Amino acid sequence: MKKKLIIANWKLNGNKLSILNFLNQLNKYDYKEKKEKCKIVMSFPVIYLYLAKTIIYKKNIFLGAQNVDLNLCGPFTGEISVNMLKDIGINYVILGHSERRKYHKENDALIAKKFKIVKEANLIPILCVGENKEEKKLGKTQEVCARQLNSVISMWGPQIFNDTIIAYEPIWAIGSGETATPCSVQKIHKFIKEYIKEYDIANSEKITVQYGGSVDENNVTQLLYEADIDGVLVGGASLNYNKFKKIIDIVNSL
Ligand code: PGA
Repeated sequence: MKKKLIIANWKLNGNKLSILNFLNQLNKYDYKEKKEKCKIVMSFPVIYLYLAKTIIYKKNIFLGAQNVDLNLCGPFTGEISVNMLKDIGINYVILGHSERRKYHKENDALIAKKFKIVKEANLIPILCVGENKEEKKLGKTQEVCARQLNSVISMWGPQIFNDTIIAYEPIWAIGSGETATPCSVQKIHKFIKEYIKEYDIANSEKITVQYGGSVDENNVTQLLYEADIDGVLVGGASLNYNKFKKIIDIVNSL
């Protein structure tokens, strides 16, 4: 069985002490001495990633950035490049999160360009897609996801999705306590996989599709029973070690 991927997105939260405490516990996590069935990606604010890298010794814990710039170096005040992330041992980069689309005006074209930069640097992009409440009401979920996938496919071709991650995150479910039903998530994940398969049959198996949006220890089991939900992207519930540990326990017990 392919290992489930659990991504923790800490957003603009945490400090040195809370991150060290969290990682010290996570390093010691041992699933009843049995084989663990998940891979974990911790996505702390970028300023703490190097510190985190020096602390982590457990083999199945990786680090991710929440954003990156398009440029590799030069006069771009305030930005971070893929080379810098690589330099400190980061493996994953979240791209196109709805909060970046909303508050930083990132559009599909910019996100598609970032996707390529990340892939070329041999980092793993996590592309967030998903509809807002209005679009959901209008039955446009598939259309919105297809448009977001297409912006990458039309620029770089479908093979760019090999060994990458797509996170389906309906905007209305993020931070709202309202999770999409496992059945509706399964349907859209299947759609996403089939959509890419249509363009690129050979490599469509290499795509991981995550679900994110108010995932916690109470709803993760039902979500992960679905065939095409390859893992979860956890925001709020990942800030509390005990809640997060429960999620890992559940994944390991599946
Ligand atoms: P949430 O956040 O789990 O707090 O809803 C998920 C996300 O934004 O990635």
